[in-house]
Amino acid sequence: MASAQSNVRHGNCLLLLMLVVAQRALCIRIPNQISDSARHQQIIHHQPSLRTAVFALGSFWRSEAVFGCLKGVVRTTVGYAGGSKNNPVYRSLGDHAESVQVEYDPRLISFRQLLDVFWSSHDSRQVFGQGPDVGNQYRSIIFTNGTEETRLAALSKEREQARSKVSIVTTQIQSHWTFYPAEPEHQKFELKQNQFLLQLIGNLSEEELEASSLATTLNGYAAELCPPEIQKHIDAKINDIVKRGWPMLRDI
Ligand SMILES: *[C@@H]1O[C@H](CO)[C@@H](O)[C@H](O)[C@H]1NC(C)=O
Ligand SMILES: *[C@@H]1O[C@H](CO)[C@@H](O)[C@H](O)[C@H]1NC(C)=O
Repeated sequence: MASAQSNVRHGNCLLLLMLVVAQRALCIRIPNQISDSARHQQIIHHQPSLRTAVFALGSFWRSEAVFGCLKGVVRTTVGYAGGSKNNPVYRSLGDHAESVQVEYDPRLISFRQLLDVFWSSHDSRQVFGQGPDVGNQYRSIIFTNGTEETRLAALSKEREQARSKVSIVTTQIQSHWTFYPAEPEHQKFELKQNQFLLQLIGNLSEEELEASSLATTLNGYAAELCPPEIQKHIDAKINDIVKRGWPMLRDI
């Protein structure tokens, strides 16, 4: 009798164990299925290994597109930095400059490489504006975090100045600053002008657009500011999708 009970108990234990194993298998499978869906693949959740850099180089619509397409950049956000006004907004940004915050994976791209892109993507010698945009909000600034970044920024500025002494490099280097994200309508501005691309990635909500790594890349692509080989790669990928009639671009 005791032995039969023990067998039943063993049987129950076995059943429970099987259930636990099955559930575990399910637990593993379910997140995989979710991550297969376009949206979850695109959203980059906070990753402690990522680093953040902030630059001002003229209109932030364009600045965001300049950095978005680089390999290793996972997310960009436009905003205001470099001034003293609290909680600036577009129509009243005070002494701040239009800026872009770049989240990047330092294993794929370095602060030094971001500096190279910064210098080659605007005219650091233009006073009080950038291209057709005139005003203090379009000035050129490198925002640094820590002495090593400040050293690298200063070195790169010296190099830039050494290229020509005909005019002065106006870029400021600031080590104490606060970045204020801009209003939603200014985020991924270039991508939002392109209905075709918006549809192609599945009409993401504002929140999803802001967090999406794919939207970050396509924002640069929409402005035709990707490095040529990346631009070509995305062209080919989109052509392929259009040809096959499969409506959704999930990754690049
Ligand atoms: C500056 O760097 C430190 C460590 O590298 C990081 O924890 C901190 O969030 C950074 N600050 C900004 C404003 O990016
Ligand atoms: C996105 O929206 C457009 C227009 O509203 C619609 O035609 C299209 O089917 C939508 N695409 C997706 C993937 O939801």
